[in-house]
Amino acid sequence: MDREQRGDRAVILHPIFDSRVSEAALSEFVELARSAGVEVLAVLEAPRKRVDPAYMVGKGKVDELLDKIEETGADLVLVSQALSASQERNLEKKVKCRVLDRTTLILDIFAQRARTFEGKLQVELAQLRHLSTRLVRGWTHLERQKGGIGLRGPGETQLETDRQLLGARLRQLKSRLDKVERQRDTSRQSRMRSRYPLVALVGYTNAGKSTLFNKLTHSSVIAEDKLFATLDPTVRRLDGLGCGPLLLADTVGFVSDLPHDLVSAFRSTLQETRDADLLLHVIDASDPEHAQRESEVVEVLESIGAEKVPVLRIYNKNDLTEYPAGLLGSEDEPRGVRVSALNGDGLDILKTVLERRFSANRIAGWIDIPPQAARLRARLFQMEAVEEEQLTESGGWKIRVNLPENEVNQLASIGGLEGRLVRSQLIDSGNVDPEPWENSIKNSIN
Ligand code: GTP
Repeated sequence: MDREQRGDRAVILHPIFDSRVSEAALSEFVELARSAGVEVLAVLEAPRKRVDPAYMVGKGKVDELLDKIEETGADLVLVSQALSASQERNLEKKVKCRVLDRTTLILDIFAQRARTFEGKLQVELAQLRHLSTRLVRGWTHLERQKGGIGLRGPGETQLETDRQLLGARLRQLKSRLDKVERQRDTSRQSRMRSRYPLVALVGYTNAGKSTLFNKLTHSSVIAEDKLFATLDPTVRRLDGLGCGPLLLADTVGFVSDLPHDLVSAFRSTLQETRDADLLLHVIDASDPEHAQRESEVVEVLESIGAEKVPVLRIYNKNDLTEYPAGLLGSEDEPRGVRVSALNGDGLDILKTVLERRFSANRIAGWIDIPPQAARLRARLFQMEAVEEEQLTESGGWKIRVNLPENEVNQLASIGGLEGRLVRSQLIDSGNVDPEPWENSIKNSIN
């Protein structure tokens, strides 16, 4: 089907079925449009009791829309709800310019933002899935198109050809994605082996996750005043904390009513979330709708099976509010931290909270390893427990190790002399409370 060419000067059609949520939904949609690089020329609100099957809104409203397009010179109509395939087609026929609904707009933004190979594949997959629903339901007129003398008979209809092409492409994409996902799994496993705790930043789009991520890890992930600036998961090591390194993952931003295809398409991004030891739920404290958005994020987390992961709330953009930066709740049970990722207020407190939380389970310190204990050294490397190493004059090594307490315990109980060497040295360096050691030795004897 020939469609109108895409434009970027838009009139927004905003059907309102529930006036209570309308205003927030509209401002979010305008933001989405802006993120897609669209210039919004006018907004036409359309309060309605019921959905009109042909156009979603009434015919009178469609005429008003036509006037608005003429008046503003727009070449695109954006509809703030999800349209059925036939509604989209009918509207497009009527207004003679491209009509995009909310789902397509979000897909479009995702397509612009995907940077990694995997991200691009996933967006294409979601787009094709969306398109395939349109092919089946909406384009049936094409079934009749290839016909006429000499073309009848076993020849395929255009629709079948389209479906086959689409099906082949979908299969190809899926198999590629499977492969990429397997590779990701491997790298996830190696990270699991390293056992550095994983902290994932989650939150509504534009809450400031990337800015916080950059500030904490001193890296430069794109932080833009646009929605979904981060599409692919990014993981960096966060050093310099007393509890040893943490892994920090930046994830895709949530948005209310995310099209279902996208939720599943971005499963791997959200995978980081499910595997995390702690979620930092970043909230834009300056957003008047933040409480509502906060609960939407919690809902999505539940729907992807991440509800068991502990959450610390980060009220960001504190500089735009009247509150002082700092800790909410007590040091032992922090409920949240007010910070400004932009100017750094409150980040020290956030780091202290992270340190307290993760140092309980890790043990760090310098140990000396004589040349004859090379096996122990190899083993520590294998466990990714080595942070720094120096050669000693005797031909041995001085190593700074950092490893989870349970692994040190294992090492002591199964590592024989060598394990005890690590143990005694860590105790001597004052980094280890001897008590659990004694228990672990006792356990290993029993
Ligand atoms: P998505 O990638 O869409 O999920 O967004 P995000 O949550 O990663 O947000 P991002 O870090 O891209 O920030 C969005 C906008 O908020 C940018 O313009 C930032 O400069 C701004 N911002 C982030 N943190 C703060 C803050 O503490 N104070 C203020 N005033 N602005 C901030």
